[in-house]
Amino acid sequence: MSIITKLALAASLATALSSAALAQDISGKVVGFSQIGSESGWRAAETSVTRQEAEARGVDLKFADAQQKQENQIKAIRGFIAQGVDAILVAPVVATGWDEVLTEAKEAEIPVVLLDRGVDAPEDLYLTSVASDQVEEGRVAGQWLVDTVGAEDCKVVELQGTVGSTPAINRKQGFEEAIAGHDNITIARSQTGDFTRSKGKEVMEGFIKAENGGADICAVYAHNDDMAVGAIQAIKDAGLKPGTDILVVSIDAVPDIFTAIAAGEANATVELTPNMAGPAFDVLAAYWADGTEPEKFIITESKLYTSADDPAGEYERRKDLGY
Ligand code: AHR
Repeated sequence: MSIITKLALAASLATALSSAALAQDISGKVVGFSQIGSESGWRAAETSVTRQEAEARGVDLKFADAQQKQENQIKAIRGFIAQGVDAILVAPVVATGWDEVLTEAKEAEIPVVLLDRGVDAPEDLYLTSVASDQVEEGRVAGQWLVDTVGAEDCKVVELQGTVGSTPAINRKQGFEEAIAGHDNITIARSQTGDFTRSKGKEVMEGFIKAENGGADICAVYAHNDDMAVGAIQAIKDAGLKPGTDILVVSIDAVPDIFTAIAAGEANATVELTPNMAGPAFDVLAAYWADGTEPEKFIITESKLYTSADDPAGEYERRKDLGY
């Protein structure tokens, strides 16, 4: 290697190191977080983890709970802009209706990071999105069912997430993709349970009544674990065995679903990490340090868990994480 190449390499290494060092120190930054609400155990964990990740970095986190309403989120974001925060994190309750407020943030030169859900808005209105591949989550859940039932006829009932939210739209799409071509598997009924345990139970009760007391249902696919836990209760109340008479597959991997899997009352879940904020703060750190533009979409892993994956141990590992 020539001396010039060595010097150039040393210089670029020094720049990289100083960027990295700078990137790590974001203490004192003020970040607004517009959270949807607390509809599920997963969401509660995301809130706790975001607070912890902020505290660990010395970030002053301004938290706003939107109580499931987009209008409250828009108000909160406008409030953060007025305060002149350094960045805004937002978990968008639904996909549409964000252009105006995101444009206001952009004009104020405040970077916005989307957490766990997407928006139907031009990509230049936000710095990055940290989320799972929600279509893939649906596919993983659907593929599990395809592999489990084989050639048996299987009537599925589906508990959808919040209407108009990207996880509800995408998880439905992914599941349908996975079962496509398997004519023995059909989605007989599909309705929103709004990602909550109580609504999941209520809607499942209706499905059971409409499907011969549940005798005609082979499986319930819930877009999150909380709705699955509600459905499990409804199945038990109807005198049936969840996990056996009716298969239960869902998404999130919260502690309660591992308790259900360990008890044989649920069959499979797809993990969604509640730590969206860690990667978000890391990209913000680099962005603040030297303007580094992150990838537009930072995708978290979607791993399948079943009774073969030590559900009792998985419960123990998660139980104190704020779910
Ligand atoms: O956007 C992620 C989804 O929102 C989680 O699966 C669900 O539990 C939550 O409320």
